[in-house]
Amino acid sequence: MSADLSVTFTGLKFENPFLLASAPPTESESNILRAFAAGWGGVVTKTIGVHPVVNVKGPKTNFNRTDPESGHISMKKRSGAALHSSWNWELISDKPLDWWIGRLARIKKEHPSKILVASIMAGSGTDAEMRHWQDLAKACQEDGVDALELNLSCPHMDRPDMGSNIGKDQEQISIVTHVVKEVAKVPVWAKLTPSTTDIVVEARGAFLGGADAISSSNTFTSLPVIDPETLEFEMNVEGYVSTGGLGGPAILPLSLAKMAQMTAALPDRGFSGIGGVSEFSHALNYFLLGCGTVQVCTAAMLDHAVGPNVIRNLNQGMAEFLEKNAHRGWKGLEDFRGLRRDRVVPHSRIKRPDEAAYHGGYDTETQPPAAADAGRRAK
Ligand SMILES: Cc1cc2nc3c(=O)[nH]c(=O)nc-3n(C[C@H](O)[C@H](O)[C@H](O)COP(=O)(O)O)c2cc1C
Repeated sequence: MSADLSVTFTGLKFENPFLLASAPPTESESNILRAFAAGWGGVVTKTIGVHPVVNVKGPKTNFNRTDPESGHISMKKRSGAALHSSWNWELISDKPLDWWIGRLARIKKEHPSKILVASIMAGSGTDAEMRHWQDLAKACQEDGVDALELNLSCPHMDRPDMGSNIGKDQEQISIVTHVVKEVAKVPVWAKLTPSTTDIVVEARGAFLGGADAISSSNTFTSLPVIDPETLEFEMNVEGYVSTGGLGGPAILPLSLAKMAQMTAALPDRGFSGIGGVSEFSHALNYFLLGCGTVQVCTAAMLDHAVGPNVIRNLNQGMAEFLEKNAHRGWKGLEDFRGLRRDRVVPHSRIKRPDEAAYHGGYDTETQPPAAADAGRRAK
């Protein structure tokens, strides 16, 4: 009997918990159709918006690789170098909403059992912008998408009322989510930025607005490295660069830390894990922290644009994992989801060789934290 990889997430049945994240692999109808044929359980479309999109001159994405001998990180291709990360400054879909409408319906008709999620984005500065969110949501759901993902996380937006600039403000997150929920008939996922101090604050804002789940992370704010010979950024336009987003292997541990914060604080909520996944052992981290699905971008971009080998290995890896753990009675994701959520604890709860000597960083065990602080300030 083959393993049952299916999951139910935000009320939707997925044949497996692996989705292509919103990015180049999901930018066209042909890519999405190929992705479904290859075995992905779901896809999140490249973000659809209503404002004009004009990308920078030249390449929008490149890949950092680490030389195993020297440790040098560079975008220059060298044999034997291992993938470190993707770096991009690509904006959302440059195809207008009209282009997507009709195509979403066709995709869904061809693959009714697959989960099609529309990623949408508008501004939040005016009432008219808020209506854009609703227009996008209504148009996509009327065309048959199964869920909506709100892009509150694109790291390279000039406008202060868009992308991660919304995602850094818990009130704006709540308002935008609420506005979309007013018209949504399908589940709404909020995709958060990792570029804040305490992501639990923004996650609470999204759930307060009615979000059905959080997707995290989008890419991390970053710069390309500078070439030591030319002293130019390895990616630039006429010498200039601006911050872009880091994805791929380098962000797996970073994104896990963000996810662990949220799943510990909000254990009963839905989370879709993103960041640095290319094989099942990576995805397993997110599942053990409590995620119900996992999304992939960089690894898929490097595997025939939509990741046919990546999804085959993810499915196979999960089937083998279930088989290996059948003796524990595990039959599906729900049997191990969240199993390591409570293992992330404050530093003071980690065992010391000499327990008696450590008081959470304070001088003595008996000194209350406030008194210890006051004492220190008085000195
Ligand atoms: C070239 C590129 C374009 C992206 N475009 C979008 C986008 O339009 N909307 C969005 O929500 N995320 C976008 N992302 C972020 C990815 O969906 C994903 O969150 C991120 O790359 C981390 O996953 P990874 O480590 O598997 O790459 C983009 C990422 C890349 C590399």
